[in-house]
Amino acid sequence: MNHGYTYQSTLASSEAIHWRIEDIVGGDKRLDFSKPFMPETLARVQPLTFLNSEEKLTLNQIRGNAYLCIFGLVEEFILPFVVDHARARLQDDDYRTRALLQFAGEEAKHIQLFKRFREEFEAGFGTQCSVIGPPEAIAKAILAHDPLGVALTTLHIEWMVQRHYIDSIKDDQQLDPQFKSLLKHHWMEEVQHAKLDTLMVEQLAAGRSEEEIMRGVEEYIEIGGFIDGGLKQQVEFDLDSFERATARLLTDSEKEEFRKQQLQANRWTYLGTGMTHEKVLATLQGLTPKARQRIESISALFC
Ligand SMILES: [Fe+2]
Ligand SMILES: [Fe+2]
Repeated sequence: MNHGYTYQSTLASSEAIHWRIEDIVGGDKRLDFSKPFMPETLARVQPLTFLNSEEKLTLNQIRGNAYLCIFGLVEEFILPFVVDHARARLQDDDYRTRALLQFAGEEAKHIQLFKRFREEFEAGFGTQCSVIGPPEAIAKAILAHDPLGVALTTLHIEWMVQRHYIDSIKDDQQLDPQFKSLLKHHWMEEVQHAKLDTLMVEQLAAGRSEEEIMRGVEEYIEIGGFIDGGLKQQVEFDLDSFERATARLLTDSEKEEFRKQQLQANRWTYLGTGMTHEKVLATLQGLTPKARQRIESISALFC
């Protein structure tokens, strides 16, 4: 494929960017709970017209916390996957080994960063918010799939981060600057990951027949279904957190509306934005046009 990504250039970009957790969280760098954390295109709290503006802000921040936690979760499967992928061919190419280990190191840092932010959130928000997990169980379930399916899921996640930041976060002046800084720093390193994922997908697909490639694509869809089940559970957690944080009990019809809107908001955030990303579709197309068509035939459900 003519994307032009190489291990050497990706490593060079990554080394030029490198930041430390201490530089972006702690000390006077605090969350401002008077501001939203998530852009409305992902949070979709405005359609819930039975909530007042303060309640919408609370729900937006609950979604922000869940966003960090869900990223923490998925990065716990990405880390061992990348390490294993690197380890299988350590002698092949020094740039490959270094770029993949750098990727793994950054992901370990992101996991820790998200934990630090979660501590800050819990200290400032005042209500304990549940999130899906535990991370080890989710990682185990995902890693049990065909490596090509796992690599496609990883590709999806990292391009999704690019899209969230560029399309929705970068120019949103309403967001809390501290939360935005976290998303920006994450985005800066994730772009290298997305390129390395492309190379991983290509390497895992090399030598496979079309039928074998499509088996990997079906496993990517299966992992998506597994994540979708997690999102349904997360919406229930968010509803519970919302009621406790605002001390407002929603009526049955309001709960129904909350579930419907928020499930679709979560689907768009974590599934639709990745499945419809042009770079993901181009990589699928490069494997076989059938792979792209298969994903395009179902992606509308998650938008
Ligand atoms: Fe990350
Ligand atoms: Fe990443």
